[in-house]
Amino acid sequence: LKEEAVSKIEEASNVKEIQDIRVAYLGKKGPITEILRGMGKLPAEERPKMGQLGNEIRAIISDKLDEKMEQLEKAAVAEKLKKETIDVTMPGRPVQKGNHHPLTRVVEEIEDLFIGMGFSIAEGPEVETDYYNFEALNLPKNHPARDMQDSFYITEDILLRTHTSPMQARTMEKHEGKGPVKIIVPGRVYRRDTDDATHSHQFTQIEGLMVGENVRMSDLKGVLQTFAKEMFGQEREIRLRPSFFPFTEPSVEMDISCFNCGGEGCSVCKGTGWIEILGGGMVHPHVLEMSGFDSKKYTGFAFGMGPERIAMLKYGIEDIRNFYTNDVRFLKQFNRVN
Ligand code: PHE
Repeated sequence: LKEEAVSKIEEASNVKEIQDIRVAYLGKKGPITEILRGMGKLPAEERPKMGQLGNEIRAIISDKLDEKMEQLEKAAVAEKLKKETIDVTMPGRPVQKGNHHPLTRVVEEIEDLFIGMGFSIAEGPEVETDYYNFEALNLPKNHPARDMQDSFYITEDILLRTHTSPMQARTMEKHEGKGPVKIIVPGRVYRRDTDDATHSHQFTQIEGLMVGENVRMSDLKGVLQTFAKEMFGQEREIRLRPSFFPFTEPSVEMDISCFNCGGEGCSVCKGTGWIEILGGGMVHPHVLEMSGFDSKKYTGFAFGMGPERIAMLKYGIEDIRNFYTNDVRFLKQFNRVN
């Protein structure tokens, strides 16, 4: 009995088995207990011998069990320690770091520049009324210049704004005829266009508006020149060309001098030496009056630019669709651009 128990204990490979063996041999229903309990039936002279033997065997098995238990517990701890060993010399796993979208960066950079010149930021609705998007900007219904901006209409009188210019009228109305007004308006705009490398049916604009007493064309030029040099480098020249917008008179388009222009073969400016970057002009007196400003007392300038185009020029991006497809291979390239 003793040998059987001892060999079983030695074979045991886990704590549970040891517990089972203890119950089986030493428990209330185990053979040792039975032997000791059955002693009353033995002749008197054999009782002490049998009792001693039973107790001895029980002690041996019990000791053996304790010993094995200790061994197993130690082995378990050793095993656990081995598993949990940390190799402190192993290189760390790189953490994937996110970043601001290149367009967000450019918009924020432009915002900061204009804030530095005393402008504040305003935002307006992307779903706009026909009145603010067109009529308040001197573009009555059936005006041919509406064709310049193919629109997404929702109802006859509601559309997705085609530019940020409606905020000119909204902001002036809020000022109730009192200047000065000095805002820029970043936001998304929508036009019915076929998407290609340089067109998108949805893009971003930043509108600028300054209204006050004695605001002149030279102020527009000064503000835009400061902007262009800060954005593209102090060596950049600007020029204003006459243009047409129904809501400004006179209207201009602004060009900046070409980057590293190689003359004839230049891919950016096609050899002209100039790159168009925005439209603007002096706010049309009708527009001032319609929004409650006295055009005898007040004058103003306005401009609108496309941050996508500015980002494309600044970073040499060739396809506008890169901004919207969220390809991480494209976005990652801006991780270290400041
Ligand atoms: N809203 C015009 C456009 O989208 C740009 C512009 C803004 C022109 C303000 C003049 C003044 O083309």
